[in-house]
Amino acid sequence: EALLISVVIAIFHHSLPFLLPFSLTGKEALTHFPSLGPSTNSAQGKVHMKQCDLLKLSRKQKRLCRREPGLAETLRDAIRLGVMECQYQFRSERWNCSLEGRTSLLKRGFKETAFLYAVSSAALTHSLARACSAGRMERCTCDDSPDLENRKAWQWGVCGDNLKYSTKFLKKFLGQKRIGKDLRAKVDIHNTNVGIKAVKNGLKTTCKCHGVSGSCAVRTCWKQLSPFHEIGRLLKLRYDDAVKVFSTTNDAVGHSELAGPQRHSHSPKHSASPRSTDLVYVEDSPSFCRPSKYSLGTAGRTCSREGNCDSMCCGRGYNTQSRLVTFSCHCQVQWCCYVECQQCMQEEVVYSCKQ
Ligand SMILES: *[C@@H]1O[C@H](CO)[C@@H](O)[C@H](O)[C@H]1NC(C)=O
Repeated sequence: EALLISVVIAIFHHSLPFLLPFSLTGKEALTHFPSLGPSTNSAQGKVHMKQCDLLKLSRKQKRLCRREPGLAETLRDAIRLGVMECQYQFRSERWNCSLEGRTSLLKRGFKETAFLYAVSSAALTHSLARACSAGRMERCTCDDSPDLENRKAWQWGVCGDNLKYSTKFLKKFLGQKRIGKDLRAKVDIHNTNVGIKAVKNGLKTTCKCHGVSGSCAVRTCWKQLSPFHEIGRLLKLRYDDAVKVFSTTNDAVGHSELAGPQRHSHSPKHSASPRSTDLVYVEDSPSFCRPSKYSLGTAGRTCSREGNCDSMCCGRGYNTQSRLVTFSCHCQVQWCCYVECQQCMQEEVVYSCKQ
């Protein structure tokens, strides 16, 4: 459990410097992320070691990191991917996934904590698999599942995302074999696996025909991950339907396991174990209305009047402010090759929650 927490905390602590240049408006296309920069040419052994040291990892994780050139950069990509997706998915919720100085949430068992674990492990899985197929890691390469004609696919320059490697590596990296006895450890592992599974389920096999005019003499197939944005959306839906669980002792097996309410609750006394796709939590969340050790509160947050102002502002009301925005308009293509526009002004109304 400590290892899992350290990764998630690392993910969010180390993300802050990377996030400074960004401010999300919710309108960004999140399918493409510019790479974080470090070039991938070799003669970088020392740089690589240093990258591993910079990340907040356990001793075992550091050792694994040092053995895998390209891993540190991939972890940083994953960190940013997870954070940006979390903030995007929670942009109109009271808790907006801003963890700046508010990491207490990670020690609790809220629905939000569940989402963080799932989105983090999903981002790690996704980034690792992509890094393999993109040639950014030295010790893994394209997906080579025997069921597909990968060798051929390779010849055609198509390289499948290596989910098998990334999942295996991640389980080793997170140290999942040591299943804890306590409820929280089980919950964290469960939610981590929900994230990994969400990536797995989004894996699609794409095929392409080659040969004389559509004869399909040679068919090449490869595996491709869905855009991370889709995985984020799926996990957010799972968050909305998260299941509250408790620990129960299974007499038949002789150890404790997670239990939640019966899904088709004809008999509320009975409990059922949560599905492997359910996000699970153990504690009800605070309201996130006021500043606390879990969030900055919602004062000053912008909201949409027809939409979420009432719930976002927790009944405190909202301020209305109008501002003028300029934009390009009446654009015309000029001979030959440029577009001439006028500047127009428009009034825009912004609503923000009161103190
Ligand atoms: C989250 O909300 C707080 C105010 O409660 C604000 O300061 C912060 O910039 C927001 N973060 C994001 C990523 O939107």
